[in-house]
Amino acid sequence: MTITTCIFDAYGTLFDVNAAARAVAAEPGQAGFADVWQEVAAHWRAKQLQYTWIRALTGHHTDFWQITQDALDWALERTGQGDPDLRERLLGLYFTLEAYPEVPEMLAKLKAQGLNTAILSNGSPEMLKGAVDSADLAALLDDVLSVESVGIFKPDASVYKLVGERFGCRPGEVLFVSANGWDAASARAFGFRVLWVNRAGEPRDRLPDPPDRIADDLTPVPAIVRDF
Ligand code: LAC
Repeated sequence: MTITTCIFDAYGTLFDVNAAARAVAAEPGQAGFADVWQEVAAHWRAKQLQYTWIRALTGHHTDFWQITQDALDWALERTGQGDPDLRERLLGLYFTLEAYPEVPEMLAKLKAQGLNTAILSNGSPEMLKGAVDSADLAALLDDVLSVESVGIFKPDASVYKLVGERFGCRPGEVLFVSANGWDAASARAFGFRVLWVNRAGEPRDRLPDPPDRIADDLTPVPAIVRDF
């Protein structure tokens, strides 16, 4: 089956969700935060994802920027970090999150191979634009699809359906790339071909619908697409 369309999850896949806390920990005068930044980053991400799942299941949708703030507030309280300037600094950096270093060249190769490329993310349109623009990726992506157009988070199937509606392709023509095991499994269940990016050498999630391919980072995506 030929792949025509390569779709990327954003947070954790193209953009490093730990970059904001790591950068603040390295700033002068942040010795206290430097001791706990990894704990903050882990709680921040875990709560952010949990809140998306709970809100999707209970029908209480709010956008991912609000969720990101709520999750950060929980993480800062949990780790005893009460400084309002620290909160603002972390959120500012999250809005313009760093892309992983291999992303621009990988996307440029896909475009040269004639693939459709897009992001499909829980992120709000504004925060996705902030991250895409700061990483200078706009010219390498045909579109940035946000769950806000359907008002429910992944893994609701209406989110994955956005790809076919935008590109007029069948699910089997899509390679969906995610570093989030639950997102990879849900996209595979929907019918996409799936690459799970496993940077940290994590165990595979005990979920049905295993990924078609696994890679350590995004560098091999153009070759994987070609060989499918
Ligand atoms: C996203 C979340 C899952 O970008 O990281 O959709």
